[in-house]
Amino acid sequence: MTEELVYVDAHETEPEKMDEYVKLLYSYLHHYISEEELRGDVKYCFEKGRVVGAYEGKRLVGAVAGAYTPFFEDFHIAHLAVETSHRKMGIGLELMERVVPEGKSASVHLNVENPSIQRFYEHIGYRPTHIRFRKDPTRS
Ligand SMILES: CC(C)(COP(=O)(O)OP(=O)(O)OC[C@H]1O[C@@H](n2cnc3c(N)ncnc32)[C@H](O)[C@@H]1OP(=O)(O)O)[C@@H](O)C(=O)NCCC(=O)NCCS
Repeated sequence: MTEELVYVDAHETEPEKMDEYVKLLYSYLHHYISEEELRGDVKYCFEKGRVVGAYEGKRLVGAVAGAYTPFFEDFHIAHLAVETSHRKMGIGLELMERVVPEGKSASVHLNVENPSIQRFYEHIGYRPTHIRFRKDPTRS
């Protein structure tokens, strides 16, 4: 890395930068969610929750978005990604520590098709509590 990393509370300062966050998150999460759905989630977090970005100079290299949502007592992590080139440097953990309101519990839904993410969350202290079942109306 050449430049120092700077962490920004994007929801407080720069909602006009939402596209940048959607682009980074979608580039790593497109296997699991449509761009439209992801954009909706990120917009909700910009408006009603928290969004934190890690910048190297002007380049966004990591992002996380979360919010309190109905039916869940915890702060809910919606989406998280760090550029491949910047992984295993502590950025993901730092983003998680900054996005969760101080002293509050947090939760996340993990896609079963993304097993390595489970190891990340277990590594940073999260523990499995529920199993989510989902039915697709187009399947019997
Ligand atoms: C998950 C992700 C955000 C981790 O970011 P990162 O910046 O590499 O994570 P960190 O460097 O902060 O890692 C924190 C700790 O977790 C460990 N860790 C990171 N990824 C891990 C993995 N896949 N398996 C096991 N441990 C992992 C690190 O070694 C580190 O441990 P340490 O503190 O003992 O050194 C990143 O791999 C990513 O963007 N993945 C693709 C996007 C994705 O699947 N997002 C999930 C949507 S919720």
